[in-house]
Amino acid sequence: MSGLTHKVSIIGMGFVGLTTAAVFAKKGALVYGVDSDENKIDIIRKGRAPFFEPKLDALVKRAVAQKRLVPTSSIAEAIDNSDLTFICVGTPMNSDGSVNLDYVARVSLQIGQVIKDSRKYHVFCVKSTVPPGTTGNVVTKNIEAGSNKQRSTDFGIAMTPEFLREGSAVEDSLNPHIIVIGTGDKKVDSRVHSFFRNLYGPRTKILKTNIVTAELIKYSNNSFLATKISFINTIANVCNKIPGADVDIIAGAIGTDPRIGSQFLSAGPGYGGSCFPKDVSGFIQFCKTLGLDPTLLEATDRVNKLQAQAVIDLVKHGLGPISGKSITVLGTSFKKNTDDIRESVSIRVIDKLLELGAIVRIHDPMAMDNTRTVFGNKIEYPASLANALKNTDCVVLMTDWDDYRVITEKMIRKFTSKCAVIDTKRFLQVKETADIKYLAIGKTKATLSSH
Ligand code: UGA
Repeated sequence: MSGLTHKVSIIGMGFVGLTTAAVFAKKGALVYGVDSDENKIDIIRKGRAPFFEPKLDALVKRAVAQKRLVPTSSIAEAIDNSDLTFICVGTPMNSDGSVNLDYVARVSLQIGQVIKDSRKYHVFCVKSTVPPGTTGNVVTKNIEAGSNKQRSTDFGIAMTPEFLREGSAVEDSLNPHIIVIGTGDKKVDSRVHSFFRNLYGPRTKILKTNIVTAELIKYSNNSFLATKISFINTIANVCNKIPGADVDIIAGAIGTDPRIGSQFLSAGPGYGGSCFPKDVSGFIQFCKTLGLDPTLLEATDRVNKLQAQAVIDLVKHGLGPISGKSITVLGTSFKKNTDDIRESVSIRVIDKLLELGAIVRIHDPMAMDNTRTVFGNKIEYPASLANALKNTDCVVLMTDWDDYRVITEKMIRKFTSKCAVIDTKRFLQVKETADIKYLAIGKTKATLSSH
């Protein structure tokens, strides 16, 4: 069977929803992409992604031109024309750290109303990250309430978590390391399984489980990765106290142990983005509702929040008193290849520098406009990297954009006379000189010979 026989709809055209829609379309499915934001739908109709993500624009352009991706603001149109729907709406963080399920709840009720008078059997898959129990207690119940129909007999439900990363979302969606299908229902399982097998071929690993286990897999995955980062950041902070210690050599060595694995062991200023901080926090709150004490997850979160201070400590160490000094922050996006600044540690570091009286200017290849919406005229936005470095007292590298590879001690000396360079990623090719002090998270200068 070819992918073209599959008609699917995707509700929510954010990072996960739009990337999934464009990739399913590339693999041959006919995809209806729904969002309540007409503006977003208009942009997608013109063949563009409404946000920056490498390779996504080209994919969307082709899919829309070939009429394999049909953008619409009508849930009814999308569901009526498809057999399988993926729910990809956001699950942001509430102020108490718990997960906000408003969008998921609202969309499920709308789905119920749409299928009320339909005689077609339809399967709904939850792709949004939701706490265990949500697919059953919120999504299924709301669809039932809105439609007066019964799960299993009238419609099917599954939970299919997503593992794509911003910045490499297209690549990750084209080649997932695993596809998880969570459902307890044979008919649903067979429909969803044949959809993924037809699109992804026989080699992609598909795991079948029940709904709550699928929901938990997503939280476990993100919490484990976040914990790995907080672990290596703990080691980096130890290295900062011991002359000659190098966190990258340690990470490289322990990463060769197959029980540990080499990925997600890059020490830095802490993790950011719209997923890890929110998911660790949501999982903590969820564990508490079970009467559990989520000590490990709380430590992961705490280590991460403290890491911004480790950056400030290095700035103080390199520069002395911060008040009145010009500080250049390189990179405000939460990682390279995205303009996303949500929960970016850079933002917290800039806040702290401003509190300490610094004159802050920033540079980022993609995220200048987004950063301006946070800080307005409290900081400076030089138009070029050269201007960002001009007469600065301190350079703080926060995001390892390739654009910063060109920075050397010679280049810095062209623009400023005396300067401290704080490298939170050990990424810059800057050698220490009499005028340039170089300090890195997790790597200190040896005071003794290593022999
Ligand atoms: C993360 C997960 O990696 C995805 O699998 C998941 O699907 C996604 O969340 C989600 O739940 O939607 P993402 O937040 O896009 O993806 O980006 P990551 O590449 O995981 O980076 C997250 C943060 O961790 C960044 O701030 C990054 O700089 C930091 N990080 C990552 C480190 O500090 N060290 C590392 O070794 C790796």
